Amino acid sequence: MAGTFITFEGIDGSGKSTQLRFLANFLRSQGGNVLVTREPGGTPVGLRLRAALLDAQEQVDPLTELLVFAADRAQHVRRVLRPALEAGQIVLSDRYADATKAYQGAGRGFSPELVSEIVELATEGLKPDLTLLFDLSVAESSARTRRRSEGKQRGDRLDSEAADFHTRVREAYLGLAEKEPERFRIIATNGPVEETHERVKDIVVPFLEARGLMVSREPAAAGSRQTRPL
Ligand code: TMP
Repeated sequence: MAGTFITFEGIDGSGKSTQLRFLANFLRSQGGNVLVTREPGGTPVGLRLRAALLDAQEQVDPLTELLVFAADRAQHVRRVLRPALEAGQIVLSDRYADATKAYQGAGRGFSPELVSEIVELATEGLKPDLTLLFDLSVAESSARTRRRSEGKQRGDRLDSEAADFHTRVREAYLGLAEKEPERFRIIATNGPVEETHERVKDIVVPFLEARGLMVSREPAAAGSRQTRPL
């Protein structure tokens, strides 16, 4: 496909969404044709599924959860991701199929075979070209999600899972990264956000350049070499 598909993964509170925003702003400042999207909730129907899935008041059965994340993804792949990639866009998605493997597989305990089958059905084999895994200890990420939910009336249902759930999810993500080192890059997010952003650019800019999408790091100074817009 003409476009490029980059996913952002990590446990809750890992800082991936902030980094996605920073990168999208940077790439757009370089003329990039960027689509920012997310799972769950990257389509109108997906937004309703997201609300149902994350409502802390609702007892959602693990099987329902697995299937609804897959339903959200099926809609997202067909209505948003494939058309955007066919149109040549740089697609940045806040979570995708690896999240189901980590959360519903390792977190809830569904077998890797079942999860893979359902992921395959929903995605029709669409895989990210690059996955950035934002990694932080469970203690640090839990402190962040606690601070974040203080202002809210009620937290997200999955945020409030016990530490051992998040530990399994984190380990599963690291295991997925180990299995596919050519697709994954692990980025530690315990430092200042600006530093993490620099590390993200150090990965993504050469990746886009290698695919013929040149980007200049800084706004072009007068007389400096101009790069082709994305
Ligand atoms: P977010 O807070 O990163 O938007 O993600 C919402 C929650 O949904 C988060 O706790 C992770 C969870 N999730 C799954 O459990 N399985 C999935 O397949 C996806 C996409 C998200």
